[in-house]
Amino acid sequence: MAMGRRGISKQPVLLIGVCVFGACLLLFLFMRGRPAKPAPETERSPSTATGLDHLNTVATTAKNDDNELKSQIKEAINEANHNIERRLTNLEQTASIYKTKGTYTPPVSQNTYPKVKNLNEDQRKRILVTGGAGFVGSHLVDQLMLQGHEVTVADNYFTGRRRNVQHWIGHPNFELLHHDVVEPLMIEVDQIYHLASPASPVKYMYNPVKTIKSNTIGTINVLGLAKRVKARVLFASTSEIYGDPEEHPQKETYWGHVNTIGPRACYDESKRVAETLMYAYSKRDHIDVRVARIFNTYGPRMHMYDGRVVSNFIVQTLNGHPLTVYAPGNQTRSFMYVSDLVSGLMKLMNSNYSLPCNLGNPEEHTILEFAQLVQDITGVKGKVSMKKSQQDDPHKRKPDITVAKTQLGWEPKVSLRDGILKTTAYFRKELGLVNNEQEQ
Ligand SMILES: NC(=O)c1ccc[n+]([C@@H]2O[C@H](COP(=O)([O-])OP(=O)(O)OC[C@H]3O[C@@H](n4cnc5c(N)ncnc54)[C@H](O)[C@@H]3O)[C@@H](O)[C@H]2O)c1
Repeated sequence: MAMGRRGISKQPVLLIGVCVFGACLLLFLFMRGRPAKPAPETERSPSTATGLDHLNTVATTAKNDDNELKSQIKEAINEANHNIERRLTNLEQTASIYKTKGTYTPPVSQNTYPKVKNLNEDQRKRILVTGGAGFVGSHLVDQLMLQGHEVTVADNYFTGRRRNVQHWIGHPNFELLHHDVVEPLMIEVDQIYHLASPASPVKYMYNPVKTIKSNTIGTINVLGLAKRVKARVLFASTSEIYGDPEEHPQKETYWGHVNTIGPRACYDESKRVAETLMYAYSKRDHIDVRVARIFNTYGPRMHMYDGRVVSNFIVQTLNGHPLTVYAPGNQTRSFMYVSDLVSGLMKLMNSNYSLPCNLGNPEEHTILEFAQLVQDITGVKGKVSMKKSQQDDPHKRKPDITVAKTQLGWEPKVSLRDGILKTTAYFRKELGLVNNEQEQ
């Protein structure tokens, strides 16, 4: 119109318009005739792309003398590839069922939530869970939500997934923040469960400096927030602070035996510093602190390829692969089911006990016994593949839980058999071994 007002004829404009339209039409017809392009790397499913790319990067950057680490990673990559193929086959089968039936039932949309308690204003707390999209965090979030509290999750998704808490997204009591605890967070809360840290050796060794930052700077930030809003903080510490223990079973009074420069040190030592920070802030700023020393925990929502012994054994068994055992095989571990841990964490948070407290299952097994047990429970027999021992792998692990029993009235309830059965059912679904139709 402006051009018209300046007296320019409309004919050239029309001509240009017709040319542009014609060019677009030609381009459209040309594109339709071309075979479909393979999806670029970034369009692959995030769990597949990031997981494998991540492992591939570690594999190629591992030092030459790190052959053991390289072979572990390669094994994980092969395992992942195998599962992707299995999943694809499963999806193809499902698609053909839908095709035959001529119907498609889309997944139920998430607008219904598990029923939560209706707490009054005095009882309802505003609770922050850092690392709440991870394995333990997401189960803790479930319980806090069901009890009727307002829950905020802060997670950077390094090892956690939105999927773990997706059943709460949109609920008025729930908020999910994409946040890295290495940065300060300004919100109003009454309690903080501070879980943000990678927990499996493969993940925490991937970027040792970041692991140290998450547990040290992250803990300083969380304590700074607690100081400002006068919140109580529970820190998820670990049995790893005992290192390769010379005392057995481990009591809270044991100071530990950690190699400060070993491959596990980034985790063990940063958790130890975090404990120190908790009590330094408590002393100086009168912050109400709780420290849970968590022993090996397992259950649904564990990451399939994070190299932890329970997930390794179950996934390898289900895939019909030999079970990887690191020599000598008679090293012991004790395994706690995740619901027991969650009840322990909540009891500790709401108790008057402020010194470190072990949370674990004292039932002790050698790794070889455990491999056998998994095969017996799942009913799948397989071989064991014995690998070279890992540096600084603790020889014995068993919690003394007298403090938790006497101070919190807590002890684990779920038997290893029941826990393994539930976890196996979860991994079956994750591996696509359960027909999708049955799931719906
Ligand atoms: N699972 C166990 O056996 C075990 C044993 C001892 C201690 N713990 C501790 O319990 C906590 C939870 O462990 P888990 O097994 O659920 O591990 P996980 O890896 O499944 O969960 C950790 C969560 O923290 C998040 N996270 C990591 N770094 C972060 C950062 N800088 N900022 C924000 N979020 C971050 C991850 O994305 C993930 O969601 C950890 O602190 C771990 O050290 C676990």
